[in-house]
Amino acid sequence: MPLARSPNAARHIRAKTESFAKSRFASDATGHDWFHTDRVRRTALRLARAEKADAFVVELAALLHDVADAKFHGGDEKAGERVARRFLLQQKLDDATVDRVCAIVSEVSFKGARVRTPVSSIESACVQDADRLDAMGAIGVARAFTLGGHWGRLMHDPTIKPQPHASLSAYRKSQRSGKSTTLNHFFEKLFLLKDRLRTPTAKKIAKDRHRVMRVFVKQFLNEWNGRT
Ligand code: ADP
Ligand code: NI
Repeated sequence: MPLARSPNAARHIRAKTESFAKSRFASDATGHDWFHTDRVRRTALRLARAEKADAFVVELAALLHDVADAKFHGGDEKAGERVARRFLLQQKLDDATVDRVCAIVSEVSFKGARVRTPVSSIESACVQDADRLDAMGAIGVARAFTLGGHWGRLMHDPTIKPQPHASLSAYRKSQRSGKSTTLNHFFEKLFLLKDRLRTPTAKKIAKDRHRVMRVFVKQFLNEWNGRT
């Protein structure tokens, strides 16, 4: 067992990682706040239990998955992994575990409707699924409109059609440009998520969350078009 895996050392590193993540999200109003990270951690651990994945690695990666999100760091896709690595190396964690956690942080993000986002471990699948589940359902709806508002996007504009982004740069550009709408984001990402989840438990949880988003968008368009 690497030194950091003794129960006491592991508890200490988990607590330090939690404080670090909390400090990074002290004043976030984009839907990427500490509570998002905490929900992702809890869901990821639930998936990890079902998949018999390494809970220590899953928990550290979930706590660190958004500490330097590229969309808030000038599009620097490596920022998250770099910040996570620098922090973990200060915690005297063995190199192999640091590498496993950082790989998960680098794999977590959605990159566009037509872009594959492979994972290199079952632990990575648990964190990626947990992050995606938090973009779905009632909380997913709330987060989309929170971030859309933060970026100055319109809720909806019937003249602007959803785009199936074929590259990460196209996806990021559309996120920043404000030329698309939050309602389009459901078609560009959120409705696609249920078919991209990897673990059986996440797929089961996703059914209800997907249905809630469908009902929401249907009702939104009915009201918009005077059909209710
Ligand atoms: P990830 O968390 O995989 O890095 P994203 O950056 O795509 O993925 O999304 C994170 C959160 O921000 C999600 O809840 C998502 O719905 C919301 N979001 C992302 N892009 C948009 C957008 N263009 N309009 C509204 N919400 C968005
Ligand atoms: Ni996230």
